[in-house]
Amino acid sequence: MAFWSGASALGSKVSRRLLFMFTLSLSVTYLFYSLMSCYNSLQENYVFQGRLVTEEATLGSSHFSQSERTTPGFRAEERTRAPPTEARPDFSTTDSDPRANCTLDYGVKKLPQAIIIGVKKGGTRALLEALRVHPDVRAVGNEPHFFDRNYEKGLDWYRELMPSTLEGQITMEKTPSYFVTNHAPKRIHSMARDIKLIMVVRNPVTRAISDYTQTLSKRPEIPTFEVLAFKNRTLGLIDASWSALRIGIYALHLESWMQYFPLSQMHFVSGERLIVDPAGEMAKVQDFLGLKRIVTDKHFYFNKTKGFPCLKKPEDSGAPRCLGKSKGRTHPQIEPEVIRRLHKFYKPFNMMFYQMTGQNFEWE
Ligand SMILES: *[C@@H]1O[C@H](CO)[C@@H](O)[C@H](O)[C@H]1NC(C)=O
Ligand SMILES: *[C@@H]1O[C@H](CO)[C@@H](O)[C@H](O)[C@H]1NC(C)=O
Ligand SMILES: *[C@@H]1O[C@H](CO)[C@@H](O)[C@H](O)[C@H]1NC(C)=O
Repeated sequence: MAFWSGASALGSKVSRRLLFMFTLSLSVTYLFYSLMSCYNSLQENYVFQGRLVTEEATLGSSHFSQSERTTPGFRAEERTRAPPTEARPDFSTTDSDPRANCTLDYGVKKLPQAIIIGVKKGGTRALLEALRVHPDVRAVGNEPHFFDRNYEKGLDWYRELMPSTLEGQITMEKTPSYFVTNHAPKRIHSMARDIKLIMVVRNPVTRAISDYTQTLSKRPEIPTFEVLAFKNRTLGLIDASWSALRIGIYALHLESWMQYFPLSQMHFVSGERLIVDPAGEMAKVQDFLGLKRIVTDKHFYFNKTKGFPCLKKPEDSGAPRCLGKSKGRTHPQIEPEVIRRLHKFYKPFNMMFYQMTGQNFEWE
């Protein structure tokens, strides 16, 4: 009896020790590889977040993708892979990427808790770049276009686009076309009903002209603004189906968002005030996001040559990011009569929008 119990005690002692050693070496190996991959993904994230944004026109996202492709800090791999379209979902790592789920101390990829949903040519790029100065904000640089063009790729694909975040950091993205996408409110609601939505809105007439100018720079052969704006010029009949004009009917689009989200989850940034008083608008955005007011007037300076406030950049990060387009891109001369007619067209919609949001944007 004594022999058997002694032997089995010895046996279990040895096997326990062996098991312990084995487990330990396994853990060390695992830890080593995890740390290695996390370190890599961390590095990439920093390159990505800290990369240069040389946007001559912060109100023009087409120029953004252009400049991004030629930015030195940009990952070479991405540069070759990225097709030259605005909509491309960059920074996507494939599903087989072992770095995908890095759950050590360096953070995890999360679905966004806040999205800048619009509007095109409103100043969304400027807002996002200013927000990225905040240490508690991590954002995708490009427009993922998930809820309009890439929805079938699924939420895992979407999550993979996001930068890793630490505890307490907010994940964000911006895609201005969401605001005018019919399915977007429902889809975003089904992902996260408590999400925070930000809209940068601007006088719909100047927005339309800016929108047209951007298209014109890419396709110089398109008809004049006046031709596109009217169904019948003699009758003064506005063509509200032209996207450059339709986007500016904010009240119409907002209505579909209000069917899914309470106003308390939405924040409206005045595109005009963002340029005149960036720190003031940023304070409100940070309050809305529950962030400490870290981005303040200390982060902006007025560039007299550009005529716009610009973000103070960290050393070595290339061209300044400014909150307005440089005087380089000239708007085509639109007949004053046409502009007057457009103001008249938008007025009732603007009034409705002020009423819905409880904010007067003073576009009249
Ligand atoms: C990462 O995690 C998500 C959710 O936990 C999972 O669906 C996905 O398959 C994981 N990806 C990898 C590469 O492990
Ligand atoms: C515009 O309306 C006027 C007056 O009804 C009409 O004579 C003209 O043919 C219309 N023009 C176009 C392009 O439809
Ligand atoms: C202001 O903007 C101009 C034009 O983009 C640029 O050349 C200049 O370096 C900027 N000045 C400062 C102080 O950033």
